[in-house]
Amino acid sequence: MVRCISDNNIESLAHEITHTWISSKRGEECHFDENHSLQASIQAIFPNQGFRTPEENPLNLIIPGFETLWRVVLRGFVEIGFMAGHQHPEWRNMLAAFAQMPTREQFLKQYGSNPISCQDLVNEVLRLYPPTRRIRRTFKWAIASKPVVMAADLEACHRSKDIWGIDAMAYDPQRWQAVTDSQKQAFMPFGSAPFECPARPVFGPRIIGLLLGTLFREFRDDWALELHGDSFPGPLGWQRRLSNERAALSEMYMICSRVD
Ligand code: HEM
Repeated sequence: MVRCISDNNIESLAHEITHTWISSKRGEECHFDENHSLQASIQAIFPNQGFRTPEENPLNLIIPGFETLWRVVLRGFVEIGFMAGHQHPEWRNMLAAFAQMPTREQFLKQYGSNPISCQDLVNEVLRLYPPTRRIRRTFKWAIASKPVVMAADLEACHRSKDIWGIDAMAYDPQRWQAVTDSQKQAFMPFGSAPFECPARPVFGPRIIGLLLGTLFREFRDDWALELHGDSFPGPLGWQRRLSNERAALSEMYMICSRVD
């Protein structure tokens, strides 16, 4: 039997995951067994899937992709479509062509007189807007009574002017044509060994390119973007960057000028 999942079901699950995540950051722990609204939103999409035992919970499969992809794809869409990429329609066309034929060759293919590839476009989105901004580890030393939590600030490494130059905050895919060793070391959107993300080498970058390309195939020149609130940095500027906060860009609208 084919089951129809409505946009509302998807939206509700996304809302519940986000709400649970924000509550946990505020220290309001809510155990999954007691999180009835999250359970209900899962059940609406996976009615026959048991989630009473942690191993069977569909969230195991959903969370890694959801928590990483939506944020970086949304920023990439705005940056490439309407900010830095406003002057470069060829960037949108390159990604749209990759979505049409999502092969390795197409991802790495160099375009233009100052050549860049889809990989460069995606790397630059991941540099400016890393979905995982900090990686935390808990250490317990033999001589200390309490464990200590330490955080590696990936976002700071990705934006450091000492490493990336004075235009560190600018979206410039061209920089990936000549990256230095210290830039390679500072770029860690997928973490670093020994706990590096399994999506790092292939799936992660290419699924971002595929989703961006799919969006650019649908949203052509007859669509305009309207952003409200303080998350939009205003007029185009090379030092401007969109907010990478989770709740930012909530007031973003796509307006179609086409009259059918
Ligand atoms: C753009 C997409 C993604 C980004 C930026 C990303 C980022 C990361 C980062 C930073 C870590 C390291 C976390 C740490 O050290 O504590 C990590 C680990 C991990 N990621 Fe991803 N991830 C992405 C997509 C995915 C997807 C789609 C999956 C699976 C469906 C996935 C599965 C995992 C797993 C299983 C680990 C744990 C690896 C280990 O501990 O050995 N990731 N990811």
